[in-house]
Amino acid sequence: MTENNLKGIVIFYTRTGKTRAIAEAISELYPYDLQEIIDLRDRSGLLGYISGVIDILFRPITEISPKELNLDSYNLLYIGAPIWGNRFPPAITTFFSTARFSGKKVVLFADFGSSMKDSIFAKHSKFISDRGGEVISTFKVKTRGKSIDAIKDETRQILRKNPVLDSIRIL
Ligand SMILES: Cc1cc2nc3c(=O)[nH]c(=O)nc-3n(C[C@H](O)[C@H](O)[C@H](O)COP(=O)(O)O)c2cc1C
Repeated sequence: MTENNLKGIVIFYTRTGKTRAIAEAISELYPYDLQEIIDLRDRSGLLGYISGVIDILFRPITEISPKELNLDSYNLLYIGAPIWGNRFPPAITTFFSTARFSGKKVVLFADFGSSMKDSIFAKHSKFISDRGGEVISTFKVKTRGKSIDAIKDETRQILRKNPVLDSIRIL
């Protein structure tokens, strides 16, 4: 992959804005498009939190907007979401089930309050490689107690230190 034929997009889901901060930091550093995936189920407040906990276990597929994304013009996908109960949330799981990964390079990222298992990345990397894509890197950001600015700063530091991501960036 060269800088000339690389077209990237950052696809993310957020409930309270932290993952959006990470996605924005990526798209501010590199000239990639930004696409939020919206969960059409209301996840706000305590009831939204409770519905999230229940749905990751019993109803991991939800209604999302946009319903389908045309990724034909992209060959690099950054895909990220918060961790819910050591899983990706329904909105991004639903996106995974509809997306075409064939021929795409993918970077997975996640943010979490206190801890997450790297097996989440391994599981989704296999899902993507089974569909003809390739996960070239992953990264995670711990968000508890951090401001939006601190989360963005940390993301920039992670990206700059990552040799794979640094080598494919467009200057
Ligand atoms: C339903 C739900 C479940 C969560 N489960 C976990 C978890 O298992 N481990 C963890 O460290 N954080 C967990 N969190 C915290 C979020 O991953 C964390 O606050 C994240 O940075 C929020 O991102 P957002 O602002 O983009 O929604 C959970 C949050 C929610 C709403």
